[in-house]
Amino acid sequence: MSDLIYEVKDVHFSWPGKFPALCGVDMTIRPGEKIAVIGANGTGKSTLLHLLDGLIFPHQGSVTAFGERLLEHSLFDEQAAHRFRRRVGLVFQNADIQLFCPSVREDIAFGPLQFGVAEEEVNRRIREVAQVLDIHHLLDRVPHQLSIGEKKRVAIASVLAIDPDVYLFDEPTAGLDPLTVRHIIDFMVNANRRGKTIITATHDLHIIGEIADTVYVFGQNKKIVRGGSAESVLNDRALLESNNLIHIHRHHHDGKEHVHQHLPLEQHD
Ligand SMILES: Nc1ncnc2c1ncn2[C@@H]1O[C@H](COP(=O)(O)OP(=O)(O)OP(=O)(O)O)[C@@H](O)[C@H]1O
Ligand SMILES: [Mg+2]
Repeated sequence: MSDLIYEVKDVHFSWPGKFPALCGVDMTIRPGEKIAVIGANGTGKSTLLHLLDGLIFPHQGSVTAFGERLLEHSLFDEQAAHRFRRRVGLVFQNADIQLFCPSVREDIAFGPLQFGVAEEEVNRRIREVAQVLDIHHLLDRVPHQLSIGEKKRVAIASVLAIDPDVYLFDEPTAGLDPLTVRHIIDFMVNANRRGKTIITATHDLHIIGEIADTVYVFGQNKKIVRGGSAESVLNDRALLESNNLIHIHRHHHDGKEHVHQHLPLEQHD
């Protein structure tokens, strides 16, 4: 048995139509790690998470998960696919892709029922995740009629209900209100304390200190331009600036316009 969750080696991937999305990515992820992937729009973060979730496969290089090469034909085998999908859960950047049942309750129950979890336990998990994400009042609603933030919470709930070993979160806090962000971060931190591996793609640098020990920065060249501790990456102004990761504030004060940048850790002073 390998003691690695993922080994990503020299991975290249282009979307149909030949849009390069990853151009030589290497990464090693161990059990219980908290990883963040950051980078400007279009640098390949979501593509990486899709590869780690076995939805697409490298055109060059390899992805190994739990000691086994992740290959399209091996996931055709129903048992192998079930084993893998029980262990890895992806929260999509776009919740609409994730939600397809007539009710929120059914969407949350879908994963566990697929994996043969007993109905009583499924109902317990629905109650539990509804509590974590404060969606009790939405359980009998039609997912497509929810607000964007509500959909996102339901999409996260549907993955939590599977209780995977590895969580892949694609922009989990984008567009959510502050209290919901807090609940989701608390959930991520607690899950990690219970041994779960957490890999998050995000633009929200303020959450990284809590949800990541290691950060990989993806560049416009669709490669990792830097991997390091969260602190070292977040304090590297030149790195964040050159990769379009620093927020630029423009505001008026005493009749004058001020434009300045914020490093993510500066707010904690
Ligand atoms: N379904 C698709 N078909 C064709 N090209 C795609 C598709 N999805 C992504 N791409 C392209 O692949 C590249 C990487 O996209 P990806 O969605 O992985 O970026 P990202 O870092 O997640 O961006 P964002 O911050 O906007 O979410 C981009 O150039 C994008 O245009
Ligand atoms: Mg993305």
